[in-house]
Amino acid sequence: MAQTSQAKTQTMRAVALDQFGGPETLQVQSLPLPEIEADEVLIRVEAAGVGAWDPFEREGGFVEIMGRQPTFPYVLGTDGAGTIAAVGKDVNRFKKGDRVYAAELANPKGGFYAQYAAVKADNASPIPGHLTMEQAAVLPSDGLTALTGLEKVLQLKAGESLLVFGASGGIGHLALQFAKRLGARVFAIASGDDGVQFVKKLGADKAVDGRSDDVLNAAKEFAPNGIDAALVTAGGEKAERALASIRKGGRIAYPHGVMPEPAAPHGVKIDAYDGEGGRALIERMNDLIESGPFEVYVDRTFPLEEASQAHKALTEHHLGKIALRIG
Ligand SMILES: NC(=O)c1ccc[n+]([C@@H]2O[C@H](COP(=O)([O-])OP(=O)(O)OC[C@H]3O[C@@H](n4cnc5c(N)ncnc54)[C@H](OP(=O)(O)O)[C@@H]3O)[C@@H](O)[C@H]2O)c1
Repeated sequence: MAQTSQAKTQTMRAVALDQFGGPETLQVQSLPLPEIEADEVLIRVEAAGVGAWDPFEREGGFVEIMGRQPTFPYVLGTDGAGTIAAVGKDVNRFKKGDRVYAAELANPKGGFYAQYAAVKADNASPIPGHLTMEQAAVLPSDGLTALTGLEKVLQLKAGESLLVFGASGGIGHLALQFAKRLGARVFAIASGDDGVQFVKKLGADKAVDGRSDDVLNAAKEFAPNGIDAALVTAGGEKAERALASIRKGGRIAYPHGVMPEPAAPHGVKIDAYDGEGGRALIERMNDLIESGPFEVYVDRTFPLEEASQAHKALTEHHLGKIALRIG
């Protein structure tokens, strides 16, 4: 009897797509647990991050731009956190029960909208500081994208001034805190009064509402000779206008996905980029987080079964991030 039940394939609850499409395609299914290779870990997922890019992936955008053949059922979820359930034979950094978080983009073994996820061990890390599972789950992609933008693309130096456009959003609220830790002066352009209050609490040197305030005048007061660098996380006319405050010889960076794509004023360098990963950068991010109080803000948390509600919530004004709780 025991043998028979052991031989049964173990199953998990996951929110999976049978086809690409709208939020209604997100359905709870019972799926087999992913199997791990020698260099992978199996995570028992407690929370998943809901990325601003998840609807694009849900509609089939990622497989199209990556030139991949999708397999269904397709499980979304780039970011997540939980405990180690099993390790591959070459993995010695983790043991069963360790609290970890991880990111893996368009994981062919399935994403984090599930009770279990298999990821490369190098993409996983112990949870830094005192972050909760929800906070750790929403952190990796946006945190690594913020840090790649500031350190690698903009090469931000202590004492420089930085404009963060979309500072109350996922990447923005993390970038603002990293930039302060790197010694920059931060001009934060947030969304709404609540966004302005939020980024002030996070340490912005000056904060304005990019939806209603006169951003350019405020920027001139902040840096009369122009701002050194900008990280842009939302596009459009307001962003375009704000970027007129960057000084000649200054730099602008924005992650791929920001639409419409920002343009630089004459004499300003502009780069589109992707967030990077890997152990060294994750450790760098963990060190920065642990070097003082750090806020990873989860505005709303939905149970896994309400993933479609979470996707709808992405389109409504919110601060920081949205998470799924996976019981
Ligand atoms: N290529 C990569 O590696 C990579 C990685 C991660 C993310 N991304 C992309 O980067 C972009 C940003 O990601 P995210 O996670 O930070 O998204 P997000 O949380 O939606 O952040 C964008 C923020 O910009 C705000 N905003 C929009 N218009 C504004 C305005 N006029 N003034 C002030 N704030 C304004 C939004 O506020 P509201 O609350 O008003 O909407 C939101 O808080 C997305 O397109 C995402 O797909 C790319």
